[in-house]
Amino acid sequence: MGVFRAVVLSALLATVSVGQDAISADGTNFTLAGDNVSYLFHVDTESGELISDHYGAPVDDFTPPAFVLPWGWHDNLANLRREFPDVGRSDPRLPAIHIEHPDGDTVTALLYKSHQLVQGKPELPGLPATYGNDSDVSTLQVHLYDNVSDVSAVLSYSIFPKYNAIARSFSVTNNGTGNISIERAASFSTDFPNVDLDMIEVQGDWSHEFNRVKRKIDYGETTFRSTEGFGSHLHNPFFALVSPSTTETSGEAWGFNLVWTGSFEATAERFSNGFVRVLFGLNSLHTSIQVKPGESFQSPEAVSVYSAEGVNGMSRSFHDLYRNHLSRGKQTHKTRPILLNSWEGLGFKFNQTSLVRLAGEAEKLGVELFVNDDGWFGVEYPRQNDTLGLGDWTPNPQYFPDGLGPYVAQVNNLTVLNSSQPMQFGIWVEPEMVDLNSTLYNEHPDWVLHAGKHARTLTRNQMVLNVGLPEVQDFIINTVSGILDSANIQYVKWDNNRAMHELSQPSDSYNYILGLYRVINNLTTRYPDVLWEGCASGGGRFDAGLLHYWPQHWTSDNTDASDRLTIQLGTSLVYPPSAMGCHISKAPNGFNQRNISIEFRGHVAMQCGSFGLELNPEELTEHEAAAIPSIMAEAKKVNPIVISGEFYRLALPDNSAWPATQFVSEDGSESVVFAFQQKYTVKPAAPAVKLQGLDPKARYSNDLDNGTYTGATYMNGGINIQWDRADYQSKLIWLKKQ
Ligand code: DGJ
Repeated sequence: MGVFRAVVLSALLATVSVGQDAISADGTNFTLAGDNVSYLFHVDTESGELISDHYGAPVDDFTPPAFVLPWGWHDNLANLRREFPDVGRSDPRLPAIHIEHPDGDTVTALLYKSHQLVQGKPELPGLPATYGNDSDVSTLQVHLYDNVSDVSAVLSYSIFPKYNAIARSFSVTNNGTGNISIERAASFSTDFPNVDLDMIEVQGDWSHEFNRVKRKIDYGETTFRSTEGFGSHLHNPFFALVSPSTTETSGEAWGFNLVWTGSFEATAERFSNGFVRVLFGLNSLHTSIQVKPGESFQSPEAVSVYSAEGVNGMSRSFHDLYRNHLSRGKQTHKTRPILLNSWEGLGFKFNQTSLVRLAGEAEKLGVELFVNDDGWFGVEYPRQNDTLGLGDWTPNPQYFPDGLGPYVAQVNNLTVLNSSQPMQFGIWVEPEMVDLNSTLYNEHPDWVLHAGKHARTLTRNQMVLNVGLPEVQDFIINTVSGILDSANIQYVKWDNNRAMHELSQPSDSYNYILGLYRVINNLTTRYPDVLWEGCASGGGRFDAGLLHYWPQHWTSDNTDASDRLTIQLGTSLVYPPSAMGCHISKAPNGFNQRNISIEFRGHVAMQCGSFGLELNPEELTEHEAAAIPSIMAEAKKVNPIVISGEFYRLALPDNSAWPATQFVSEDGSESVVFAFQQKYTVKPAAPAVKLQGLDPKARYSNDLDNGTYTGATYMNGGINIQWDRADYQSKLIWLKKQ
């Protein structure tokens, strides 16, 4: 211990103040301060352990004593609130870092060595992450060292004060002479004191994504994970801890989101003393990551947001942070073209003539971007259904005898209604996959993820290319570049329709995601003007990692407007509506035969950044065809406020037959309200829609009753809507500040 104390003292003398308020180091007492949050931890100078002190509403000082030491049989580390728990040394709770050393032992003692404050935020090599300049974000890096095993680590905390957000990651360096293996890596870890908390997360399945669920953090582990190689439809790498009394608009909420596209694990562990340990990082079933002597492992980043304004306050912080400091695409802050996607209208049954005809129908409706979904490729194995051709990215010569160029030119020759703009063209790809029936698989059977002689399971008839292999990465980069160079393509929908099942090593899935980031980084840098949309059988890969590169994601294959309200509002817990892709599809809906009016379907879809149609206009009813022009006009008018405004969930579809949402423009001069009646009942009467985010003293006109009222009246009295006696009614109401 004596040696360690000397190290600590030298670090104390070396502490540098960089004259910033967001992070201060009083010796080795660290304070990260946001506008409405404080995050405090310190080094125990006896042991060198990092001890958590406070994460929540602002505090000014370290409270003396900094923590209460419970008495009892479990002692030492078991009773401490730890910032970066490792394995062994008397802490029976789950660790944030678990390393297998060259001799097979797994005990690690990562203790404080030094720290430094950095203006701004260093990049994480090869990984997506939040970013910002010196005035947006400050970083504290804490250096830790294990004197026994020659392993060192750097814990990095970056605070974005305006958003009450902290991004954390760590690196581990092998300073020894043999390989070490990372068996568990939680990017975020902290210990809350003895406090009652509930966990909110989103669970679901294909076409049933993002259903909000809440459970009590009880003794033991409350945990969920993805072992699918990507975030999956089952859960999302997001959760919130909330006080039991927290509501949408009031109370404490701590949100956590992993900036990672692969398998993950989220845990809240309540120990006998009541402390709650939070761990959020890689799924330990998919780690065992080898680190050679002299090399380092860099964890993905986790972002945490604190809100004292309930769950909605937490969501708004995530939205603002992600739009301004995560999603780096040129299009992030731009309004998006109204598109028509061929999938639900034509499926696999098309050729150049029918596609151009569909685009012509789209032209008449005012569509700005025509998207050719799945089915356009394949020579030896033409993609006429989902058993054929994935991997063979040559346009089907029977459909496109002259290739994509002349076909796309035909689409570009169409004009966007009431403008002289050419219609844009977009294309679907799924370049991480291969069909059994494909030239690519015949030529490169070794390129797919597989485990020795075990059967290569098929899902949707396809296998996953091992994107961890550099040759596969180069193949995808060259293939997608070739498609983009062959025609005037302004949008790409990048799909991913199955999970990883057979891995030859647990870390294959981790290496895959690093390879995928290399590929996407390369392509988005090379084609910055292309609008990229992620998709994974709907919302299976809606995550912050991909949002770094791509500004939007297809939210769900379920396009039923009623189900979509639940899915979209669930997605908005963490991801901004501006990042969601939402389309009007035909009625009755192909999934559940629900017959919902075109107006309701339109109002649900236009709450998303990327609005579009996913139907064959030739199949529209007379009423639908007549209604579409005004729906398109409304969607265009609403789009700017969806892209940059603040989003409020006013009433949730799970709790009310009258869900409602609201956007307030950045400058506060206008607001738009979407109100719905999902189910008509004789009684009870519909409640007033109470607005949020307005200036209570300012007066706003509205186009429902054409009255003008104060913000206080709208927020405290609310808007009363006279609904028709029918299910699935909707209203869009504009407010203008006077
Ligand atoms: C799944 C996607 O989610 C759909 O939108 C569509 O693109 C199909 N794949 C095409 O195979």
